[in-house]
Amino acid sequence: MVELIHDPAAMRERVLAARMAGRRIGFVPTMGALHAGHMSLVEQAAHDCDDVVVSIFVNPTQFGPHEDFERYPRTLEADCRLLEAQRIRWIFAPDRVAMYPPGDATRVVVAGPAEPFEGTIRPGHFTGVATVVLKLFQMVPAHAAYFGAKDWQQTRVVMQMVRDLAVPIRIVVCPTIRESDGLAMSSRNAYLSASERAQAVALVQCLGRAEDLWRAAVDVTEIELAMQETLKRQGIAVDYSAIVDAESLTPLRPTSDAVALVAGRAGMTRLIDNRLLPAR
Ligand code: PAJ
Repeated sequence: MVELIHDPAAMRERVLAARMAGRRIGFVPTMGALHAGHMSLVEQAAHDCDDVVVSIFVNPTQFGPHEDFERYPRTLEADCRLLEAQRIRWIFAPDRVAMYPPGDATRVVVAGPAEPFEGTIRPGHFTGVATVVLKLFQMVPAHAAYFGAKDWQQTRVVMQMVRDLAVPIRIVVCPTIRESDGLAMSSRNAYLSASERAQAVALVQCLGRAEDLWRAAVDVTEIELAMQETLKRQGIAVDYSAIVDAESLTPLRPTSDAVALVAGRAGMTRLIDNRLLPAR
């Protein structure tokens, strides 16, 4: 039986008691509206750990003033039903006051990998993410936390924060789960109209093109241009398309592992995707 917990203190007690009993705890933080991408993290956590906690909290501080916080899909009942079918022990669904008590005045600001790309386009976004993730790690003191490669920059920001603040948790990054045509699964895909859904496939096409050109040893600037063209041709308003160092997200060095990052809008809906590139 899955137990639904709202109170942070109760959540923490459960996890600490299980740890005392020698159990290994895995944690999957989410904002709900669960899909197969989230469920793949849950499966990995259940495979690696004795007990799994999934948190569901639509975090207001990571949304900009003109973003979709109000209309972000909230489907707690359906999410709970999906999770009931999995081998998990707790769902943690704190309310806003529990996460941000009145008078709350502390934020976790990460520099470095939080600055470019999403950090520039969504100012304050990663401060909201780092702050809520650190709070969640206090409330759910698990051995390991599972994040999706879908949000590559987010994984780098969380890893930086965990290292810099000596948070005793292992960060596990799991592969991106995709629709049959390659579109990365996302709770925001629900916003897409039929024609925007057709356009959205441009992101994965653009990454495929980037990888082909990369393998053919084409110059990075040229690849970035080709990525942009692929997006524009399908009517995507491009936010960025770049190939950078996969860890620091700074310009490539000869020793770098490389990642191709892409973001844009189909109509009003923002889409992001990425691909790790092979050594060359
Ligand atoms: P959310 O967008 O709900 O995503 C929760 C986790 O699921 C993240 O680690 C995300 O990378 C992963 N995920 C989403 N789509 C995926 C896909 N197609 N394949 C694999 N993994 C996928 O990311 C957040 O919530 C929030 O920022 C959060 C970390 C919970 C902090 O509020």
